[in-house]
Amino acid sequence: MRQAEEINESHLFYQEATRRPRLDRAEGIYLWDVHGKRYLDGSSGAMVSNIGHSNPRVLAAMKQQMDKSTFAYRLHFENGPAEDLASMTASLMPPGLNRIFFVSGGSEAIESCLKLARQYAFVTGQESRWKVISLYPSYHGSTLGASAVTGMQQFVEPFRDMIRVMPKIPAATCYLDRDGLSHEERGERYAEYLREEIERQGPETVLAFIMEPVGGASTGALVPPDSWFTRIREICREYNILLIADEVMTGAGRTGRFLASEWWDLEPDIIAVAKGFGAGYAPLGAMVAHERIVSAILDNGGFAHGYTYAGNPLACAAGLAVLQELLENKLVENADRQGRKLRVRLTELMDRYPFIGDVRGKGLLLAFELVRDRDSLQPLDPGLNAHLALVDEAYRRGLIIYSRRTRGGLVGDHFMVCPPLTITDAQLDELMELLTASIEAFAKSAGLPL
Ligand SMILES: Cc1ncc(COP(=O)(O)O)c(C=O)c1O
Repeated sequence: MRQAEEINESHLFYQEATRRPRLDRAEGIYLWDVHGKRYLDGSSGAMVSNIGHSNPRVLAAMKQQMDKSTFAYRLHFENGPAEDLASMTASLMPPGLNRIFFVSGGSEAIESCLKLARQYAFVTGQESRWKVISLYPSYHGSTLGASAVTGMQQFVEPFRDMIRVMPKIPAATCYLDRDGLSHEERGERYAEYLREEIERQGPETVLAFIMEPVGGASTGALVPPDSWFTRIREICREYNILLIADEVMTGAGRTGRFLASEWWDLEPDIIAVAKGFGAGYAPLGAMVAHERIVSAILDNGGFAHGYTYAGNPLACAAGLAVLQELLENKLVENADRQGRKLRVRLTELMDRYPFIGDVRGKGLLLAFELVRDRDSLQPLDPGLNAHLALVDEAYRRGLIIYSRRTRGGLVGDHFMVCPPLTITDAQLDELMELLTASIEAFAKSAGLPL
């Protein structure tokens, strides 16, 4: 056996600022490294472990399935776990969205949404429609199709010549605006960018609009005003454009509803879920589509798209147990309740630390952003590398949070605080204690005002 400290670089593809210790085990909201140090998972990994780690029910369901079979190919067998998970998922969706296409993660889910939308246009005499408008900043995944709709320069630029980069409109970053408008008026203004872009592109060429209802890592849990949702839904209907909700991060209860779309009765035409849907137990995601879209495609030969591991029985057995755990233990409601408390606690930090410029999010999809001063909301000096330095302070103290550059992925620093939906009051206290100590230490080392 290798020593825990031995350095093996054969699997590295990133220039990480710091090598991390090897994981030993995980349980509930905690993980332990091979040296026995304990970490509170304040970001559920990458907003994945919604029901916490090593959940006994899910592990038992997986073991039971493993004893029966771990793989059966779609063309040779149907399988019970996939059928049961599809029915249960459909029962949690808005009316009409009852077709579930299983995949192995978020990027595959998004890729499937884009291709289903296009094939629908193709088989219904709308071949001129192929453009998918998206937001800037946004993140929709790493495959080439998902990169074409992603609004983060660093993830798109090297691949630009290989893809057809899709039109972008600004995300509703209303908190940065200094224009005398109300929050709701700003929401309408940002939604109108969609109409303008559709007109500019030519409505007959636009296929869909894709968006994360609550922003993920690209914006740091940005929540658009209510008016934005009402208006973009109207605009999509007016122009007969499909609305695709990327609920890869927001889905499976993270925002305090099973889908974030429910907060605004959004009724998208196609939805992508992943992350919390498999909750870290199996590579699992799904595209959920409206009956009318899938029927039209089935009438014309079926979906020209698929993956070998789609509907894998082991992954689906895990997903089914994850959903049962979420529903029976009312974890979605817990995300709403604990999220409200955590949000208040994070907002209270603003009284102590003038360099916290904004606290935002919904449910347990929360983030705070650091700024030079609260009036201008200018980002901190990029040389401080706050997004790395504060995460490291927290990590040293046994707290994991997730950070990114916030303004288009280029400058600014935001921190996602998104613990598992199982988090208790005592664990919230512990999280806040560790976070406050980390912010204090970071501010001192960076010479920020206290
Ligand atoms: C909103 C959103 N969409 C898509 C993806 C891609 O998911 P995956 O990394 O599972 O391929 C992510 C991943 O972070 C995401 O946050």
